Amino acid sequence: MNRIALITGVTGQDGSYLSEFLLEKDYEVHGIIRRSSVDYRERIAHLEGHPRFHLHYGDLGDSMSLMSVIGSVRPDEIYNLAAQSHVQVSFDVPENTADIDATGVLRVLEAVRLCGLGESCRIYQASTSELYGKVEEVPQNENTPFHPYSPYAVAKQYGFWIVKEYREAYGMFCCSGILFNHESERRGETFVTRKITLAAARIAQGRQDRLYLGNLSSLRDWGYARDYVECMWLILQNKKPEDYVIATGVQHSVREFCQLAFHYAGMELEFTGEGMEEKGIDKKSGKVLVEVSPDFYRPTDVVNLWGDPSKARKELGWNPVKTSFEELVRLMVEHDMKKVSMERAKEQIRTNLEEYLEKGIIK
Ligand code: NAP
Ligand code: GDD
Repeated sequence: MNRIALITGVTGQDGSYLSEFLLEKDYEVHGIIRRSSVDYRERIAHLEGHPRFHLHYGDLGDSMSLMSVIGSVRPDEIYNLAAQSHVQVSFDVPENTADIDATGVLRVLEAVRLCGLGESCRIYQASTSELYGKVEEVPQNENTPFHPYSPYAVAKQYGFWIVKEYREAYGMFCCSGILFNHESERRGETFVTRKITLAAARIAQGRQDRLYLGNLSSLRDWGYARDYVECMWLILQNKKPEDYVIATGVQHSVREFCQLAFHYAGMELEFTGEGMEEKGIDKKSGKVLVEVSPDFYRPTDVVNLWGDPSKARKELGWNPVKTSFEELVRLMVEHDMKKVSMERAKEQIRTNLEEYLEKGIIK
């Protein structure tokens, strides 16, 4: 019998990589999707039609849909990845963020319990380094105190504690992976890394003039999402349910990410000025390619995330530096250079076709 996994947030960056990973391990993979007016699920389109890949409509804000899917699928493992995952957006939609990222976790746990799966089903909760927020120690490990610093982080803090509570109160096998930022070619386009790699590719190909960013000095521990989903699985294969920090142990600034991404796109950036006046200038042409905009500053910003993955390395045998920072940035830029070339080629073909139709060359 194949093991059965249920993934919430299956259409997201991590959900798509985790689906691939579990299918390779012979799992029967079920995913929960939301109804949308545009029904194109880009990140998982290549998996649709796979005989062991199934999708169900549901929503983390809707207990009945969760009960219905969990009760019928009866999973051995649940990966709760669904969330309003954008920190800046959580300042604009704090109530929805709390409903999905906090109460949503409770809905999943209760659905498992009420469906009679409390003893058999293992649950992974997508916790976050944002819990450390206004950091109280550097680097951060499993014993570092939390200091959440955004509506997103406060909601995720509830998720973390309710998982711990269900573990202790009901003896359920539920754990949190405290994951530091992880990126990829599939990263949402408004997170800083992808925003930078796409802009570098567009600027290199003459499709954009300038990139506007917020806090360039913010520090992150960036890893590769494809490597991190393995750890989610390892956490659920463990003998005991425990929480783990998942990080690379290496820290860089947004400015450094930018310089490296532009380098791989064929431009060398030099930063001059400070604060809102700081600018990234192309050394060769002298053109300003990066500017700071107040639009991308947050009311409270987390500026010093740096994880210590020693526990995961020792107890789960996980390799935190499988993909280096340099390799990650290169992968993302190469992907986006191709994406922008394809967009240009498609536009050219469309323009040619329109011209031929107009001139009656084709009908
Ligand atoms: P993502 O790309 O933004 O994906 C989020 C997923 O959640 C999408 O599939 C989205 O569906 C789904 N979702 C949102 N609201 C939902 C709702 N009400 N009901 C059902 N599904 C809903 O995020 P990600 O980067 O893959 O991250 C996965 C999880 O890890 C999130 O919980 C995030 O907070 C957490 N996390 C991420 C990182 C990171 O660096 N990536 C680090 C630590 C923790 P749609 O496609 O329909 O929008
Ligand atoms: N998004 C964005 N856009 N961030 C910018 C920009 C910009 O133009 N300019 C500077 N930044 C800074 C932000 O202020 C923040 O300090 C840092 O870049 C990273 O921002 P994001 O890429 O949006 O990620 P995040 O760290 O806030 O949140 C991500 O990682 C968390 C784990 O630490 C998300 O994936 C969360 O879901 C996840 O929990």
